[in-house]
Amino acid sequence: MSTKRRTTARILVADDDPTIRHNLATLLRSEDYEVVDVADGTAAAEQLSAGRIDLALFDLKMPGKTGLELLREFEDVLETTPVIVITAYGGSQAAIEAMKLGAFDYISKPFDLDEVLLTVQRALKQQSLIAQVRALSAGQRNTEPVPTDRFLGRAAAMLQIFKTIGRLAKTREAVLILGESGTGKELVATAIHESSDRAGGPFVKVNCAALSPTLLESEMFGHERGSFTGAVSRRIGRFEQAHGGTFFLDEVGDLDVELQAKLLRVLQTGQFERVGGNEQLTVDVRVISATNQDLNAMVADKRFREDLLYRLNVVTISLPPLRERREDIALLAEHFVRQLAEKYDWPDLTLSAEAIEWLELQPWPGNVRELQNALTRAATVARGRPILPDDFQSSTELAQHNREDEGRRAAGSGLPLKEILAETETRVIRQALEQTNWNRTQAASLLGISRRQLFDKIRQYGLEEK
Ligand SMILES: Nc1ncnc2c1ncn2[C@@H]1O[C@H](COP(=O)(O)OP(=O)(O)OP(=O)(O)O)[C@@H](O)[C@H]1O
Ligand SMILES: [Mg+2]
Repeated sequence: MSTKRRTTARILVADDDPTIRHNLATLLRSEDYEVVDVADGTAAAEQLSAGRIDLALFDLKMPGKTGLELLREFEDVLETTPVIVITAYGGSQAAIEAMKLGAFDYISKPFDLDEVLLTVQRALKQQSLIAQVRALSAGQRNTEPVPTDRFLGRAAAMLQIFKTIGRLAKTREAVLILGESGTGKELVATAIHESSDRAGGPFVKVNCAALSPTLLESEMFGHERGSFTGAVSRRIGRFEQAHGGTFFLDEVGDLDVELQAKLLRVLQTGQFERVGGNEQLTVDVRVISATNQDLNAMVADKRFREDLLYRLNVVTISLPPLRERREDIALLAEHFVRQLAEKYDWPDLTLSAEAIEWLELQPWPGNVRELQNALTRAATVARGRPILPDDFQSSTELAQHNREDEGRRAAGSGLPLKEILAETETRVIRQALEQTNWNRTQAASLLGISRRQLFDKIRQYGLEEK
């Protein structure tokens, strides 16, 4: 059935069910692996301590020590010995927990022997790749100086953008930033502010898509007490708060037509009044706006005022999508991995050359943000060892498995849809929070929701840090 291997991997099989143990041992031996089989968790622990195991396959439910206990106890061993756990059919909780603890993969009973073999082969192949990457990177660590900038790029179009930002430093011209979602528009806005001579002043942001037109108007320009129901006191608007600094209008394509008119007047005269007020206010601000919409098409459709567009785009910066600057992918990926390694204290978390090649071939419709999220997910699969192409696959597969599992349970459970959704949502949110060590900002961005929405959900579902 297979060719003889020169070096045979030594595989530990631990299961209290004699039939399963026998079947697995026979299968693996027929493939020329060396097999050590034990019937309980205590014996498995002894074998793992002895340190001559290349791969372990064990049941989660065993007398002596459970599989999860073993994973916790042998956390260090997992770096060199991949573990495949066997779980009862249908349950997702134990499988999720095992993956979180660093298992390579899980197989649910009853299993298909071919599937077991494939998983074993995949795990061993990955382990040998990791060993190679480690050997390679041990020799070359810290040789190349790494840029410490927050905003990176080596593509020609990005260098051009850096230059433009530099040129804008001494002016107060309005800047319009265009680009697909996740290309770095907000980062450009911040960079313009920070490198300008207004850096000492405030940087104030308003998201035009987040509020209804009435609320947005008072958010931007403030209101006088009693100017509308709910306006119990005077409010200083964001525009006024930005005095001496930069006012960033995000998602400007979502600005309602009436507010477009008001904004235009402010930009033309430099003057405005608070909602319900008569006092003419003058402020000194630079306006930067951003959108992923095609404003020219919106002008043609009469959904965006042409005169306002002229005011906003005195200078236009267009961020190219990531797929059009593939030379930046490796640079950005290394940067994000370094951040993750620091944050989670995983000094060995690096990117293998194969992983970089894989990343460079992907289409990245969600651009830099999507790349960043993919790396965060893969890093939690790799847990401190070099990231391999498979890790991107397994992290999306894991997410998919959970979804399918959910579907199966939902179909048979007879629970009302609302409860099922709430349960799913709670689980996904908890996972994101745990994955980011309860960093709400990061968890929100991982989930693709705002911080506010996340806070509301945490309260709604009574989630607490354990
Ligand atoms: N050139 C870059 N160098 C380093 N990090 C980047 C770069 N471009 C984007 N990022 C990171 O990617 C993420 C998305 O960037 P940002 O929020 O600026 O994008 P955006 O275009 O405003 O997205 P959206 O349209 O979804 O609001 C951020 O975490 C940002 O720090
Ligand atoms: Mg943005």
